[in-house]
Amino acid sequence: MFDLKVDDEIILRTVEEGEAYQLFSLVDHNREYLGAYLPWVDHTHNIADSKAFISQMIAETMDGTSLGVGIWVKGELAGHAGIMDIVPGHKATLGYWVAENFSGAGIMTRAISALVEQAFTKYSLRRLLIEARSTNEKSISLALRLGFQHEGAEVAGEFFRGEFYNLERFGLVRKPKVAS
Ligand SMILES: CC(C)(COP(=O)(O)OP(=O)(O)OC[C@H]1O[C@@H](n2cnc3c(N)ncnc32)[C@H](O)[C@@H]1OP(=O)(O)O)[C@@H](O)C(=O)NCCC(=O)NCCS
Repeated sequence: MFDLKVDDEIILRTVEEGEAYQLFSLVDHNREYLGAYLPWVDHTHNIADSKAFISQMIAETMDGTSLGVGIWVKGELAGHAGIMDIVPGHKATLGYWVAENFSGAGIMTRAISALVEQAFTKYSLRRLLIEARSTNEKSISLALRLGFQHEGAEVAGEFFRGEFYNLERFGLVRKPKVAS
C-alpha cells in the first residue's frame, strides 16, 4: 500500500495483517520502554490487538484520514509511525515510536524526516503537529531536530497512570511556494 525507501537501511512500509505477530512481539519486548510514554501499550495484550490496530491503520490509510507505516531497518521491523487526523490541504498530526535497541542512532531522525516530506507533498499540508508529554525529552529533541517550533503547552492535556501532564505542542508550517 505504501512503500518508501528512505536510504540504504530504512524503509517506511505499511504493516500488513499477516505481520501482526512481528508488531505485537516488538511491543511486548519493549513494554516498559514504550509504555512509559504511550498509553495504548497497556491495552495491547495479544496478537489480536495488534491485528486490530493494523486493520484500523489500513482502513484509515485507504480512506485518507491517516497514513500508518512500519519503520523497517535492514528488513527488520523497528518501530511504527503515523500521519494522523489528516485534513488534506491543511494539517495533520505525527505520531511515532521505535524499539529501544534501535533508538539513539539517528534512525528516527531519518525516518520521520522522510515522513514529514511525504506529509507535506502527498497531502498538500500547510502545517504538521507533534504533541509530546513535557517529560518526554527524546521526543521533544526529535521534534526540535526536525525543525518543529515549540508553540506552547496544553496544560494537564494528558492523564496517564493517575497523573496529569502538560502536552507540549510543536508545529512545522510551510507556506505555499509563490509562482514566479
Ligand atoms: C521518541 C523517540 C521516537 C525518539 O527516538 P530516538 O531514538 O531518540 O531518535 P533518533 O533515532 O533520531 O536518535 C536520536 C539520538 O541519536 C543520536 N544520533 C546518533 N547518530 C545520529 C544521527 N546520524 N542523526 C541524528 N541523531 C543521531 C542523537 O544525538 C540523539 O541522541 P540524544 O537523544 O542523546 O540526543 C523514542 O525515544 C521512542 O520511541 N520513545 C518511546 C515512544 C515515544 O515516546 N514516542 C513519542 C510519543 S510523543
